[in-house]
Amino acid sequence: MYNFDFLNKYSPVPVYILDEIDSTNEEAKRMIKNGTNKDFVILAKKQTNGKGRKGRSFYSPKDTGIYYTYVHFSEEELKNDLKVTVASSVIASKAIKEAFERECRIKWVNDLYFDNQKISGTLCECLLKGSFENDKNAIIVGIGINVSTSDFPEDISRKAGSICVENNPEAYDKTIILITKGLSDFFKNLSLREYMDYYKSNSLVLNKYVELSDANGVIDKGIVKDFDEDGSLILSNEKGEAKYDSGEISLYML
Ligand code: BTN
Repeated sequence: MYNFDFLNKYSPVPVYILDEIDSTNEEAKRMIKNGTNKDFVILAKKQTNGKGRKGRSFYSPKDTGIYYTYVHFSEEELKNDLKVTVASSVIASKAIKEAFERECRIKWVNDLYFDNQKISGTLCECLLKGSFENDKNAIIVGIGINVSTSDFPEDISRKAGSICVENNPEAYDKTIILITKGLSDFFKNLSLREYMDYYKSNSLVLNKYVELSDANGVIDKGIVKDFDEDGSLILSNEKGEAKYDSGEISLYML
């Protein structure tokens, strides 16, 4: 389904395409540990052990979605993955709009929703220099997009959805190029300045009443008032206002 020559002609970094792998993020880590030290992208047509955030899995059947990892080598050490995940949600959302003509909403931090169902997420990881043979930090951005997946496992079938278009190889290739160019631009200065307007105007949760949870359960409730320039959530709660740089939102009436 992917056109290798097209992708490698227009992508700013080399693109590797695999038929099947456990996880493109895990394969990226293996490549880094084996000495790859220039930015690259890996795509897989199928993942047998796709990983999501918070230890969850990402369902990745053959030829029905985009399973994508971009690796960027950097002198800078990421304080957390917030900025990259916020930027990647904007970049992926714009790419889907342009390539597949579908308008998604963004649920903080970086889940994309179409028709009230989650169709995409990002898993950002970092391999610090010194943890392997490389003298730079590696930022690993894994993006999964359900394009035409329909048979989701039962535990996610209520929440997960697809952008539901016929398989359209050109749109897949276009999405990959747009996301890769977008991330490559973002990595030039790691600033969210040009992303926050789009992030806010396409937010699923801005001005909505939400619950915020961490691994131990609900930690706050309130109305999402804003997002600051580093992507943190500003919640208007019973006590006034609180700012969070991690956690998971539940939205009532999704
Ligand atoms: C989430 O929604 O929790 C994040 C999902 C990220 C899935 C992508 S698919 C490509 C890359 N490889 C993985 O194993 N995970 C990410």
